[in-house]
Amino acid sequence: MAKKAVHGIHFIGDKIVTENLVTGVKVYGENLIKENGQEYRTWDFWRSKPAAAIKKGLKNFPLEKGMNVLYLGIANGTTASHFSDIVGAEGLIYGVEISERPFRELLPTAQKRGNIIPILANARKPEDYENIVLGKVDMVYEDVASGDQMEILIRNCEKFLKPNGYAVIAIKSQSIDVTKPPHQTYKECLLVLEKHFEILEKVELDPYEKYHLFVVMKWK
Ligand SMILES: C[S@@+](CC[C@H](N)C(=O)[O-])C[C@H]1O[C@@H](n2cnc3c(N)ncnc32)[C@H](O)[C@@H]1O
Repeated sequence: MAKKAVHGIHFIGDKIVTENLVTGVKVYGENLIKENGQEYRTWDFWRSKPAAAIKKGLKNFPLEKGMNVLYLGIANGTTASHFSDIVGAEGLIYGVEISERPFRELLPTAQKRGNIIPILANARKPEDYENIVLGKVDMVYEDVASGDQMEILIRNCEKFLKPNGYAVIAIKSQSIDVTKPPHQTYKECLLVLEKHFEILEKVELDPYEKYHLFVVMKWK
């Protein structure tokens, strides 16, 4: 029996799963499980940071049916496909990706799912996609693994996030400063983030993703 823990995220045994929005269709080789007439997709915590965070005990993941999300660094859509399951047909994911190769791989997934809008752009330049992102979003999710990832997040939140909206970031210490111990980098990043956000929860993703801190926040 699938137990519901966080909004739209379920557990079957020790597996984290989401309700498949497109019945019968896999995105990245994950397993499909049928239970009581519902099909679920397993969410691989070795390949997706929010699943790793939940596996490591994250309690609040602020994603719900019908929400609009701005996703920075969507790549080929592995994680975004689970966001797409959770927000459902009434929600929308605007996915920004700078690199053409993963962007091309994202396109068939976006087409089949109908609630992902792929945007080939640099997340450092939100003005380049302000005509595509209509209105303000409920959540900005950032996984770009670059040295200026905090500035990128803040700039996009200023432009696109609703007042009191949520921001979620996967901080990669090795992309910010390889010479510092990860905890020192996390501390410095949190000091920057605290000026703009209320930190709701944070969890380190090791061993599923080395040198990553996953932070859930609310826009002040
Ligand atoms: C760690 S991967 C993302 C994995 C993806 N979030 C997932 O879980 O399925 C980081 C992605 O961010 C993209 N990226 C890096 N810098 C970017 C930028 N300035 N704007 C948009 N995308 C960027 C990279 O091309 C890469 O695809």
